[in-house]
Amino acid sequence: MTGRIIGTGASCPELVWDNNKLAEMVETSDEWIRERTGIARRHIEKDRAASAMAIEAAKKAMDSCKELDAEDIGAIIVCSIAQEEVLPSVSCQIQAAIGAKNAFCFDLKAACSGFVFAYNTCIAYMNMGLIKNALIVGVEKLSSITDWTDRSSCILFGDGAGAAVITACEEDSAMMMKCDGSRGDVLTCPAGSTLIMDGQEVFKFAVRSVPEAINEVLDQKKLAKEDVDYYILHQANRRIVESVAKRLGEPIEKFPMNLEEYGNTSSASIPILLDELYRCGKLPKGSRLIMAGFGAGLSWGASYVTV
Ligand code: ACO
Repeated sequence: MTGRIIGTGASCPELVWDNNKLAEMVETSDEWIRERTGIARRHIEKDRAASAMAIEAAKKAMDSCKELDAEDIGAIIVCSIAQEEVLPSVSCQIQAAIGAKNAFCFDLKAACSGFVFAYNTCIAYMNMGLIKNALIVGVEKLSSITDWTDRSSCILFGDGAGAAVITACEEDSAMMMKCDGSRGDVLTCPAGSTLIMDGQEVFKFAVRSVPEAINEVLDQKKLAKEDVDYYILHQANRRIVESVAKRLGEPIEKFPMNLEEYGNTSSASIPILLDELYRCGKLPKGSRLIMAGFGAGLSWGASYVTV
């Protein structure tokens, strides 16, 4: 049993900070940021809580889904590292907002691997026969935990939410998840503080671990690279995506990117990208995708999903 995407949604703040705005805040330039990261703008949420963004993305995903009603959803999983409320969980708030009264709900924290970990969790429940349909939401207000005086990290992050409705389909799943807690110091955020990152270490870790994860999923699925329509990678840095494409020997056109517009939105980046592709018709029925996430923990993972 694997997952099929049958609806998507996103909610991105209206306020946009371009690179020139950041150049007024720290010593940097549009040219440096574009060249090193591929990022031109990021969306910043000043007013709404993260849960409001998550609810909007979830509602849009349900609206776009013609196959199901909210009562058919068996699980709602929200992934986030930057949302304000301790209780109730954002997933329970979504349940109430959309009327998914038959769903069990919880939030998980796996940084930029969050969406892939949440998806894999849903697939495991599907294979146990516990659920048939799930709603997965990634939401981040990274602007609230960004050090806006640190030019080496603040240029990267943005806010947003993305959601996907997944239904079980009769096809073998393929997935992997790994963590290395002994390297947790590479990317930290102490309580009440801001993100502290060793950018070069994250970079090296990503370009090594992501191709390995993707190859493991291809092997499990016995899928040839030619049969993959798109690789949907966490949107951290254009150079990371390009390096992964090169290491896999795959054309860069199979690695859609939107980080120019949103920057790195952590666990929201994959579902925001899925929503863009889904809505503009780039994911016709039968499309075969491999998603891959990587980030703090350290954590990384990949999975096969169809449309
Ligand atoms: N503007 C101008 N100069 C800068 C800036 C900036 N914004 N930031 C750093 N520099 C300078 C440095 O001070 C350094 O100067 P020096 O040579 O005089 O010492 C020089 O630029 C090069 O710095 P590096 O750190 O070597 O730059 P690098 O090419 O590695 O790019 C970057 C830095 C963009 C952070 C890169 O390492 C990266 O993207 N890493 C991955 C980070 C990432 O994806 N993190 C998110 C993980 S996901 C999660 O879980 C939240």
